[in-house]
Amino acid sequence: MAHFPQEPFRIKAIEPVKLTTRQEREQYIAEAGYNLFKLRAEDCYIDLLTDSGTSAMSDAQWGALLQGDESYAGAKSFFRFEDAVKRIFGMPYVAPTHQGRAAENVLFSVTIRPGQQIPSNMHFDTTHANILARGGRPVNLVAALGLDPKVRAPFKGNIDLERLEQFIAIVGRDNIPMGMLTITNNSGGGQPVSMENIRATSDLLHQHNIPLFIDAARYAENAYFIKLCEPGYQNKSTLEIANEMFSCADGALMSAKKDALVNIGGFLTMRDADLYQRVCNELILREGFPTYGGLAGRDLEVIARGLWEGLDESYLAYRIAHTQYLGDRLVEEGIPILEPPGGHAIYLDAKRFLPHISQAELPAQALSVALYVEGGLRTVEIGSVMFAARDPDTGQIVYPALELVRLAIPRRVYTQTHLDYVVETCKRVYANRETLRGLRIVYEPPLLRHFTARFEMS
Ligand SMILES: Cc1ncc(COP(=O)(O)O)c(C=O)c1O
Repeated sequence: MAHFPQEPFRIKAIEPVKLTTRQEREQYIAEAGYNLFKLRAEDCYIDLLTDSGTSAMSDAQWGALLQGDESYAGAKSFFRFEDAVKRIFGMPYVAPTHQGRAAENVLFSVTIRPGQQIPSNMHFDTTHANILARGGRPVNLVAALGLDPKVRAPFKGNIDLERLEQFIAIVGRDNIPMGMLTITNNSGGGQPVSMENIRATSDLLHQHNIPLFIDAARYAENAYFIKLCEPGYQNKSTLEIANEMFSCADGALMSAKKDALVNIGGFLTMRDADLYQRVCNELILREGFPTYGGLAGRDLEVIARGLWEGLDESYLAYRIAHTQYLGDRLVEEGIPILEPPGGHAIYLDAKRFLPHISQAELPAQALSVALYVEGGLRTVEIGSVMFAARDPDTGQIVYPALELVRLAIPRRVYTQTHLDYVVETCKRVYANRETLRGLRIVYEPPLLRHFTARFEMS
């Protein structure tokens, strides 16, 4: 039986939500062109679109807002923020940005030349698009295990080191400005990367003089998985584990909207003084002066506190078990999910959920629409809408290996009753799965199409 963990907090402020009728939801989703990003949030009863920027802040964080120093340059809030980042990430240079993709934009604008390639276990959508926008090529080399949704194994976010070695041999060091690891692997099921794999990736890249950058959006959840599952780490603190992970890297970028438990913010941190100088020049042009980087002083204050709260072990034990509860309940009902449950989300396996809908008819998008109509759940497609693309060499459409619907869980927001309601909604859709039909795209922009595409029932 699935076990719901005890919360290491109690509730001090609430936000009312309302459940609309099925008829209303059918109307709203049709008006939104069957794109859940276009719904009004108030028309979603349980919003699992993302865990990004949706955390409930603590009383300490709300209190810290008043201490925001809004000086243009050299604000006290910057130094508190910088101190937290330096103590966790262990690198000498820190540049705030307004969110994660801004950190990607700044970093790639000063490191990528057109035609260069960036290997990773798996790039997230904004990382992928920001590399393309600079004329680069994102390459995903997650280990084969990570692409099999049925296998229950730890560390399915690991990169395939053999393929990475072959990739370096073929592409050549001069065409690889950096290697990356996304921890945890968001596009691949929120699966963690082991310390052994982080270290081996770092060693291999460094043998070829290629720097390693970590996409650290969910580094604290990754650290906790290492503590739970990797031999030798049970008695280490999550701070010690984080320090060790980042000691393998030359730099990191973070969307603070995830494991720093805030609603907006991000940053870059790095070891190289010359790179930092180039980052600062770009930052001033695009984001703001290097001691605020597109954020208010109060945002820097809440990130500084949120980084520590996000590493707290009683919080992380609850967080990982909370997500696992939802996954275990769905498995108990026979609903196909990507196994094992990830850190921040449960991913429904749309290929097994809707085997009668081909990838060309966007089964994961069709499933996310059905979940909204059935129970007012907002989820997100991570499948062909997000990642199918024409191969630049052959012109053929290449479909992604995984066709998923992500149920991302906002931090410290939903109770057991909310999660039980999610399970009941999924059960009803699963019972009627044979009646669902696919979708086709009627409008798409050139990049990041999932945000604004419109669909029709096929
Ligand atoms: C792994 C990863 N990297 C980067 C980003 C981009 O961050 P942001 O949404 O703050 O721009 C995200 C956001 O979801 C993410 O999950």
